[in-house]
Amino acid sequence: MQIIAHRGASGEYPENTLLAIEQAITQGADAIEIDVFAVQGELIVIHDHHLARTTNGTGSIYQYSIEQLMQLDAGRGERIPTLRQVLQLLQNTRLWLNIELKGENTVAPLLALLDKAKQELQFDSQRLLISSFNHHLLAALKLAQPELKLGALTASLPLDYAAFAQQLQAHSVNCDVSFINQAFVDDAKARGLKVYVYTVDQADDLSRLQQYGVDGIFSNYPARSRTLLSTDN
Ligand code: G3P
Ligand code: MG
Repeated sequence: MQIIAHRGASGEYPENTLLAIEQAITQGADAIEIDVFAVQGELIVIHDHHLARTTNGTGSIYQYSIEQLMQLDAGRGERIPTLRQVLQLLQNTRLWLNIELKGENTVAPLLALLDKAKQELQFDSQRLLISSFNHHLLAALKLAQPELKLGALTASLPLDYAAFAQQLQAHSVNCDVSFINQAFVDDAKARGLKVYVYTVDQADDLSRLQQYGVDGIFSNYPARSRTLLSTDN
């Protein structure tokens, strides 16, 4: 089972910062999940569009220029990273990256950055999983770049299970731990989808998900999850 560090090693370090990502790499995560918004065409790594919870700023990210946002403290003196910085950090590692699109207007900047990343950073887009709760964004991405791997996020258990993800031609369905059950996992597998589950930090959830046969979990504590998985096997 793959361990995807949720917002980096965010249980112990400021979420969605380069520090949390570096620590997740050290802790042996297989992948990193980050949340991304677009501000003036630049993709920045932050979970909320309001600044107050994770930085020393106030108001919305959209009220500021990129230069102003880069001055903020995102915890322990860390800055809000750009997606480009994260790609740079991961380029010489074996990890894959899950970019979760949070805001509108993210598709065009992402396509432009991936194009640049391919040439300048040798960052292969097959190491990326692009996910969103906004399935319209995913459909637009698939249309523009069919080879991109998509993760269809859901916070519910739809009547027709993972049909929506198959319709999107997604690589994976990314589900809430609160709702997932064996029937959903079986349905997703039958449709050829990977199943990744967020956010899993409790040992009993981890063993239940192992029994279901899920492919990966989003963890705030990658080292602890790794230990739990290895003592279980
Ligand atoms: O991508 C999995 C998970 O991160 C989705 O929820 O709110 O933590 O971004 P959230
Ligand atoms: Mg997320």
